[in-house]
Amino acid sequence: MTTIHYSREPGELKTTRTCDKRSLNSIIRRMSREKFDPTSLREQFPALQRNVNGRPAVYLDGPGGTQAPQAVIDAMSEVMRVGYSNLGGAFASSGQSEAVELAARQAMKDFYNARRVEEIVVGQNMTSLTFAFSRALARTWQAGDEIIVTRLDHDGNISPWLLASKDRGVTVRWLDFRPEDCTLHLEQLPDLLNKRTRLLAITHASNAVGTIPDVQRAVRLAHEAGALVYVDAVHFAPHNMIDVQALDCDFLVSSSYKYFGPHTGILYGMYEHLQRLDAYKVRPAPDDPPGKWETGTQSFESLAGVRAAVDYLAAIGAKTTEAVTTNTSEGAKRRVRLETAFARIKSYEMGLSHRFLEGATTIRGLRVYGITALDCLHQRAPTFALSLEGYSPLEVAQRLGEQGIFVWDGHYYALAVIERLGLLEKGGLVRIGFVHYNTEEEVDGVVEALRELAS
Ligand SMILES: Cc1ncc(COP(=O)(O)O)c(C=O)c1O
Repeated sequence: MTTIHYSREPGELKTTRTCDKRSLNSIIRRMSREKFDPTSLREQFPALQRNVNGRPAVYLDGPGGTQAPQAVIDAMSEVMRVGYSNLGGAFASSGQSEAVELAARQAMKDFYNARRVEEIVVGQNMTSLTFAFSRALARTWQAGDEIIVTRLDHDGNISPWLLASKDRGVTVRWLDFRPEDCTLHLEQLPDLLNKRTRLLAITHASNAVGTIPDVQRAVRLAHEAGALVYVDAVHFAPHNMIDVQALDCDFLVSSSYKYFGPHTGILYGMYEHLQRLDAYKVRPAPDDPPGKWETGTQSFESLAGVRAAVDYLAAIGAKTTEAVTTNTSEGAKRRVRLETAFARIKSYEMGLSHRFLEGATTIRGLRVYGITALDCLHQRAPTFALSLEGYSPLEVAQRLGEQGIFVWDGHYYALAVIERLGLLEKGGLVRIGFVHYNTEEEVDGVVEALRELAS
């Protein structure tokens, strides 16, 4: 089996404030072509050393949640070990919590390329944040207004909007996808938009079939019609660089546990929206963002983990940037490192996808849903939903699980995707998801295990 290391689409540097963009871009391109060896990175993840039935565990459940490197574990336990107090106290440990919170906000500002730290809102998880924002936005809607959701989305970016629409007498329009390759019908978006459209809720990448829609184009079309755009970047975040300024979206949300951090959700909101909209909050809470959106006391240990997870990723791109970013701020340096890191990750993961598809598509009775064209791998995440003749998805997951290969089965809350494919009653699909700590050997291993099951 051949291994291809891709050099296309590694994320041109668009927004970094550094001295020499052209030389930086060429370094990033060169780095993305360099062989990416996950061995030393894997050593940083205690969970990856696990055995199941005498075999090394193979975590292919990244779309459901990734493992954490030691740096994240250390950062979280350090906060608890040193002593942590609530915010606003006139003593040392309270000040420490404030510092932890600010550091996480700064890290996420760099991760998203937000304009200011006040645009970063922390919450329990993506779903809870989306319920909070759907309620707040719905307060501005009138009966007869319209919103658009997509069938490609996780239910966390559908149900909150359906419920809010019901509360306000708002019409919901659905943007469909093509069942053949699970790509979104973006060309139909202009027909769904009109003067009454208040919001488009859209996924940055499907957690079921991996599709990466052209969200930038969707935002442009929605804005031309006067609608706001709320982007679910939960599945996009571990695989690709996020850039809220380039997207020009109004809101974007992700969950740190999908990219090597703890279970915490982080939302970007354009400052003017966060300021203008009314939040459901208790009276003593701040009137300004981000505090007005953050209910109750935050998990400071998780915030320390969020910062450490972003820095773990940035370190993957650290080597390159030292040469060109000597006089820039820490935030700008981190952003450059992240750009380089994601260029490398994207290129490596496209190689894993190529290898997986080359093997899996030769297995009799196995069907991969979503984009399978080998020259379109940049338009998908390395997340594969599949069926295997003669087995239910649960049976496949169980049989692989016995061999220490962890994969999901069912609908993984991407209910609309599985319904649209007509597979809900059949138990959904098997989902195999790779991240950068997965190896070529693991890809070959799961392909062989599927081949054995098929035969
Ligand atoms: C694409 C996508 N959106 C939203 C969610 C929900 O995220 P959370 O668990 O943070 O609410 C998930 C979780 O699997 C997801 O994959």
